[in-house]
Amino acid sequence: MRTMIRFATQADAFKMTRYIKKILGETPYMISEAGEYRPSIEDEEYWIKQTYQDGGMILLAFAGRSLIGMLSVNRHKRNRRSHVCSFGISVKNSFQGHGIGKELMRRMIEWCKAEQGLEKITLEVFSNNDKAIRLYEALGFKEEGRMCREIRYADGEYADMITMALFIHNDEST
Ligand SMILES: CC(C)(COP(=O)(O)OP(=O)(O)OC[C@H]1O[C@@H](n2cnc3c(N)ncnc32)[C@H](O)[C@@H]1OP(=O)(O)O)[C@@H](O)C(=O)NCCC(=O)NCCS
Repeated sequence: MRTMIRFATQADAFKMTRYIKKILGETPYMISEAGEYRPSIEDEEYWIKQTYQDGGMILLAFAGRSLIGMLSVNRHKRNRRSHVCSFGISVKNSFQGHGIGKELMRRMIEWCKAEQGLEKITLEVFSNNDKAIRLYEALGFKEEGRMCREIRYADGEYADMITMALFIHNDEST
């Protein structure tokens, strides 16, 4: 099935909350556990509106009418950091490995390049998330730092948090 990618609107709030709950239950690589995510539809609508108001955006990927992937960008608000944004990305388990994550990222990088004054895209990724790290490296992101044992799982295992970045106007790899 063909994938369609578009910007999220507040009308997507219900679908997005259901999607995020599902993703958090599927993956060990997000900050929140599924039980920690309990927004109302109004909370989600507010978050969508605020993300755009603050200079960010949200991309959604659909297979037919099903929401299967999401990428959100947040731009820093303070003047001295307003050339920097960060993003989070996810694709439903059953749709992973088909290029949807890469396509969401390509669209995001194009969007960032067109945004006035934006110079740097940053992200945080768990050190055990090889798939995501490979995707980010393939698009030119480079490791900038590592917070040791920043993540502790319920079974007592730890992961480091790696910070990565892409400078969008002097990197030819995208
Ligand atoms: C990370 C994630 C968004 C990637 O999305 P995806 O749609 O599966 O990725 P793609 O199919 O576009 O693959 C992109 C690249 O990822 C890497 N990749 C994909 N599947 C992989 C696998 N099984 N093993 C290793 N690398 C893999 C490859 O570099 C691939 O590029 P290539 O196909 O040109 O070789 C997705 O796995 C996901 O949502 N994971 C759970 C949530 C998460 O970890 N989010 C990121 C938190 S920082």
